[in-house]
Amino acid sequence: MEFCKLTSDFIDQTLQIYKTCLNQTNLSESTLKITNSYPYNHIYIAKIKSQVFGIIDYTILSDEAYLNNIAVLPKYRNQKVASDLMENMIDTCKNQNVKSISLEVRCSNHIAISFYEKFNFTKLAKRSNLYSQPTEDGWVMELAIK
Ligand SMILES: CC(C)(COP(=O)(O)OP(=O)(O)OC[C@H]1O[C@@H](n2cnc3c(N)ncnc32)[C@H](O)[C@@H]1OP(=O)(O)O)[C@@H](O)C(=O)NCCC(=O)NCCS
Repeated sequence: MEFCKLTSDFIDQTLQIYKTCLNQTNLSESTLKITNSYPYNHIYIAKIKSQVFGIIDYTILSDEAYLNNIAVLPKYRNQKVASDLMENMIDTCKNQNVKSISLEVRCSNHIAISFYEKFNFTKLAKRSNLYSQPTEDGWVMELAIK
């Protein structure tokens, strides 16, 4: 298994992960390419040979980071793939003197919430109707980086 920055060779497979695991069915190849081109966005993939099975996508602005998305294909879950992607992000954040990482998560996404809590993210606030399709409240979670 290797981790690398998203390159054009892997856009198609990465797009499929956003669509199937994160329900971002309207995301287009061109939008993903543009998002990936901004220097403050970091999109990393986990792959074996040419098979992509996990992604992490975060933004660093000054000393704050925001975790936009993390996902692993169902077949590869519970094998610490997301943990490795998260550790990679936290290391990058430490190297760039980031002070905190925040994220939003659907209140019903108990698996993701327990994943984030394992990394010591804490719930800061609940935002009403943060999500659509279906409408749902979301938690804002944060990790302070020492
Ligand atoms: C959340 C997700 C990324 C976790 O990926 P993963 O590679 O399976 O996670 P890991 O194997 O690294 O798990 C690490 C920890 O997360 C928690 N966790 C993972 N899967 C879990 C499950 N099914 N139930 C409860 N806790 C779970 C556990 O604390 C686990 O540690 P443990 O194995 O020591 O108990 C994955 O389930 C996923 O892609 N979900 C769909 C996309 C999504 O919801 N992303 C988040 C959007 S905000």
